[in-house]
Amino acid sequence: MTTEVTVADNPTVQVTGKQATGKHVTHGSTPSNGPRILALLNQKGGVGKTTTTVNLGAALVRRGKRVLLIDLDPQAHLTLHVGVDPDSVEHTVYDLLTRPELGAGEVVQTISEQMSLLPAEVNLAGVETELATLAAVGKAQRILADKVGLMLAGQADGGAVSSAAPDAQSLAPHSYDFVLIDCPPSLGLLTINALALANEVLVPMQAHFLALQGLSKLLETVSLVKRSVNPRLLVTGIIPCMFEGQTVLAGEVMADLKTFFDAARSMDVPWRNAVVLEPAVRRNIKLAECPSFGKTIFDYAPDSNGAKDYLALAEALLGMEEGKATSEGPALTTATIA
Ligand SMILES: Nc1ncnc2c1ncn2[C@@H]1O[C@H](COP(=O)(O)OP(=O)(O)OP(=O)(O)O)[C@@H](O)[C@H]1O
Ligand SMILES: [Mg+2]
Repeated sequence: MTTEVTVADNPTVQVTGKQATGKHVTHGSTPSNGPRILALLNQKGGVGKTTTTVNLGAALVRRGKRVLLIDLDPQAHLTLHVGVDPDSVEHTVYDLLTRPELGAGEVVQTISEQMSLLPAEVNLAGVETELATLAAVGKAQRILADKVGLMLAGQADGGAVSSAAPDAQSLAPHSYDFVLIDCPPSLGLLTINALALANEVLVPMQAHFLALQGLSKLLETVSLVKRSVNPRLLVTGIIPCMFEGQTVLAGEVMADLKTFFDAARSMDVPWRNAVVLEPAVRRNIKLAECPSFGKTIFDYAPDSNGAKDYLALAEALLGMEEGKATSEGPALTTATIA
């Protein structure tokens, strides 16, 4: 099977703002040596974005990393998955995006010693309409990036515009090694906010024929945001989820993806270094069960294939951070990590 993946001419979102002229950076590097900020993005629903955000985050914690999870989906599945009731928290990402005086540090919830969360709520669904005026002048696309950026820079108030300068005592930097952003299944303003903040894009995907069709729109959106809002943005790779390796279709889709990315190596596109991360995350019932217990796979079923696969994925990402994709353990099939 040969599936042509092309980038559509017609953007699905309008991105306004100053033309950016950033240069390429390698996977994992950020201009300020801050955390790696990864947006988990696929406009197709139910492909494994939230499952991957939670369990990849938890796997990174098990490897000693400090992780901030951001729930940008009005369904608040990520928030629920880590055991937080969206109705019980004082502030959510909705407040962060709609109340100029509120800083990210006032919204962040502690999940464990090494994991924090910016929670979502159902009201987030209305945010695109509420910010329509700002969107017209190009400001609404960067609200999250500006506020979380301030928090990550260690400002105690996390970007509250009305606060007095914090004293030395209150300067408790929110320092993280990884920020993982769970995007909604759309390419609207919430997703643009995620892409404005992120350095990298990970695309959880099921190995279906139709999954490839959506990739062109997704990549076009990433290109637009890179050109207009965030020159650092790069596509790190595809994460095959709910993988059933024994099927012919899965093998063919993976081969097509690798061919597509290999063809982009010499092109000036944000996915020029993208890889298909391996091993894929296998279909595993334990991964589907753990959200209803408000637990990660490592707390719910630490010996399951799901736990093993997400640990392997974390190792793969960490290997890319160090600029090496070794043949031991998790491999990166088409990796050309600069
Ligand atoms: N590897 C897996 N094995 C079995 N079930 C899985 C696996 N990954 C995810 N699931 C289940 O598939 C469903 C969809 O996954 P998930 O919620 O992570 O997708 P999503 O892309 O975040 O969806 P949405 O677009 O609605 O936000 C969930 O019920 C989840 O528990
Ligand atoms: Mg989800």
